[in-house]
Amino acid sequence: MPMPHARKIIIDTDPGQDDAVAILLALASPELDVLGITAVAGNVPLDLTARNARVICELAGRDDMPVHAGCDRPLRRRLVTAEHVHGKTGLDGITLPDPRMPLAKAHAVDFLIDTLRSQAPGSVTLCPLGPLTNIATAFARAPDIVGRVAEIVLMGGAYFEVGNITPAAEFNIYVDPEAAEIVFKSGVPLVVMPLDVTHKVLTTRQRIETFRDLGNRAGHAVASWTDFFERYDIAKYGGQGAPLHDPCVIAYLLAPDLFSGRHINVEIETKGDFTQGMTVADWWGVSGRAANALFMGEADAAGFYALLTRRIGDLP
Ligand code: RIB
Ligand code: CA
Repeated sequence: MPMPHARKIIIDTDPGQDDAVAILLALASPELDVLGITAVAGNVPLDLTARNARVICELAGRDDMPVHAGCDRPLRRRLVTAEHVHGKTGLDGITLPDPRMPLAKAHAVDFLIDTLRSQAPGSVTLCPLGPLTNIATAFARAPDIVGRVAEIVLMGGAYFEVGNITPAAEFNIYVDPEAAEIVFKSGVPLVVMPLDVTHKVLTTRQRIETFRDLGNRAGHAVASWTDFFERYDIAKYGGQGAPLHDPCVIAYLLAPDLFSGRHINVEIETKGDFTQGMTVADWWGVSGRAANALFMGEADAAGFYALLTRRIGDLP
């Protein structure tokens, strides 16, 4: 149950095991008032991300949470998915029952617009965990809502870590660079959790067993998902563990001091032959372009996992 004056957020997501852990962390945290969850096509197609979001809410005992289906493809490109990482269902690693809760009626874009118009200006934070198609579509359709957003805290992009889906681009930005460009040029205060920090919060055998030892169904699910999710990164990067990308967004809302970064200019490459979807982060301040994002570079992994484990332990 959110505490008085809890921070109002909307989670935009493409579950995805790491999205699932992020959603569970948010639902376990009374400091946050999750107004709704909007699903977008990304890791897997929209019908699965919209299903998975409801599966996760029911796992957390929150079948009251409004889940809205959004855009089923990027603004101007064909959809690229990531079953090779997340499995066919997008939540491989544990078999969970199909959701009983229905989708909320409104399209995710209409929910974003209506909610930002009805909530007090500057009171709602958007937390995108997947491609930015829903957010960009809402901004394009209703420019009046842009100034009403308190902040966008998103997972996406990379600088020192470079790309994970191409040599230059991180998946969320790569899937819909045009949407990312709209968001990064919107003027909304941005906090960016790039691969530069998510690759510093890697699972380990011990961390996964600690989730499993919680003894609750959420801990069992998180351990099973990360067991599955890490196999790809271990094979690709060799032997360490999986980066828990999306929970960094929620952890930042709860404990910002776990992260540090720089307020810099970040542009989105939409035209390069080999660099489409690249976040061109001016980490060294050489471009003279105005800063538009707090781009994170460091994370306290031990503190992150201590917070995450504690909160997952508070769930059913
Ligand atoms: O590149 C990592 C991001 O892409 C994460 O949000 C993961 O869930 C996928 O959407
Ligand atoms: Ca995601």
